[in-house]
Amino acid sequence: MLRRVLLAASASPRLRQIVTTAPATRAIVDSYVAGETADDAVRVTRTLRAAGLLVSLDYLGEDTKDLAQASAVADEYIQLLGKLAAEGLTHGGAAEVSVKPTAVGLFLGTAVAAENIRRICAAAIQTGTTVTLDAEEHAAIEPTLRIAADLRAQYGDLGCVIQACLRRSEADCRSLAAHGVRVRLCKGAYSEPESVAFTARREVDASYARCLRTLMNGPGYPMLATHDPRLIEITSSLAVLNGRAADSFEYQMLYGIRPAEQRRLANTGARMRVYVPYGGDWYAYLVRRLAERPANLAFFLRSLRSNT
Ligand code: FDA
Repeated sequence: MLRRVLLAASASPRLRQIVTTAPATRAIVDSYVAGETADDAVRVTRTLRAAGLLVSLDYLGEDTKDLAQASAVADEYIQLLGKLAAEGLTHGGAAEVSVKPTAVGLFLGTAVAAENIRRICAAAIQTGTTVTLDAEEHAAIEPTLRIAADLRAQYGDLGCVIQACLRRSEADCRSLAAHGVRVRLCKGAYSEPESVAFTARREVDASYARCLRTLMNGPGYPMLATHDPRLIEITSSLAVLNGRAADSFEYQMLYGIRPAEQRRLANTGARMRVYVPYGGDWYAYLVRRLAERPANLAFFLRSLRSNT
């Protein structure tokens, strides 16, 4: 409930202004975001790689309303891939990129986003790595999956994300697993209506477990994005049950969340990828992280009150 209220309130320009200018915000942003520039992203990637972790980089921003801006976001990714490659960080997909279709123009037209994503895929393939398309609010899912399916004819390892909270996701998993696609499975970070999504936590968790079973049982490459200890345990049991080699799937977690668990999993020989956001447009990302964890939110609200 609290989560839904916060996600809805975050659209208010007044709240945005208070949050982005409050001194208390900086420390929390720094715990979830690598920094403002591509150089910050490369520096954090270097550190994570040295600890044996894989990385997916996200240039923060979404809902781009302007053609030139959508194209500039794609340029930023291409430049980032060049910088990562120059340091040998992209080799074998060690550091890849995650792209939000609305950041590269999905709401300006599917063709606009598809062309920008195609340019990023071309740069990724040249540098020996991959691209994964993030999943956003439910209206964006169908066009995103369609773009991914079309581009996969040329860029076979273009990944996509399935949100367990959506009612359609089990069927999406069945179809994607059958085609051997790289699929990231997450719970879903957006506030969605009952008509399209499970809204009770236990229903979302049960849906995640069903999708997980389908993906782990299929011929694709599952990427299990969760910090939930129970789902991580189920994943490792399913890997044993399905005779999956350690390099045939990966765990994924967000930068700054459960870092000790990230290292523990990597030390067991599992592939563990950290999703690292960077850039100045961190507001929406931060709100989603605060909404996921009441403890963070309470701390943040207390700091905000004492600083505003
Ligand atoms: P849950 O929220 O139940 O958390 C389980 C435990 O993890 C908590 O008890 C706590 O210990 C810890 N935890 C979780 N969130 C925390 C936080 N913010 N701060 C501190 N601790 C926290 N969503 C989406 O809609 N589209 C997408 O493309 C992606 N992409 C994506 C990539 C990766 C790599 C990850 C890990 C996640 C996403 N997500 C996403 C976000 C995802 O949908 C979900 O909102 C969060 O991962 C939180 O859900 P959990 O599965 O971790 O479970």
